[in-house]
Amino acid sequence: MTKSRDNRDDHDPGRRKFLKGVGIVGAGAAIADHLWVEAEAAETVATPDSLSGTVKVVLDVNGQKRDAQVEPRTTLLNTLRNHLDPAVTGPKLVCDVGTCGACTVLLDGKPVYSCLVLAVDATNKKITTVEGLGTPENPNAVQSAFVENDALMCGFCTPGFVTTISAYLKKNPNPSLAEVREACKGNFCRCGTYPRVFEAALAAAKGSQA
Ligand code: FES
Ligand code: FES
Repeated sequence: MTKSRDNRDDHDPGRRKFLKGVGIVGAGAAIADHLWVEAEAAETVATPDSLSGTVKVVLDVNGQKRDAQVEPRTTLLNTLRNHLDPAVTGPKLVCDVGTCGACTVLLDGKPVYSCLVLAVDATNKKITTVEGLGTPENPNAVQSAFVENDALMCGFCTPGFVTTISAYLKKNPNPSLAEVREACKGNFCRCGTYPRVFEAALAAAKGSQA
């Protein structure tokens, strides 16, 4: 697990990019770009007051265009959960600092921690949450396997694991247990259901191939 934690950026949550961005560079540029476009559209001059206001973002969430009015500093997780109507609550807010994976969503098919992505940086990307992977009537293989293998206790970590594993099985449809464990290194389960989670992942892989 030490290796996993040290290499957590391999999960590509955007942790480093986000931290840099919030510090100065990436997010600053994105916000500036966004505000510039907004300002041009409104034919107004950007003033320091603009930075404390809100901007409109249009997000592609599970195949639907969703509008939100958010502050430029608002995370994707916060936007999904608190600024859309109806809200998208599959991604869970647990640590809010990029350590647990409960907020994992797919950005253009790649798992990211949505608590470390700004909503303004997620425009023009395809956002897939656990709700977009399947429905109660027609769950995907991983969702079914989690139910069949009883792979959850409190369930807070579950959307993150399901999303991460669903993306991973597309890359590697026939993984070993070691590979599944490695793929899940960015997701933590405080209830300790790891053995069932890994069993479910392997069962989903097997089921998809059958
Ligand atoms: S809530 Fe985002 S990583 Fe924990
Ligand atoms: S089932 Fe409770 S944190 Fe994983």
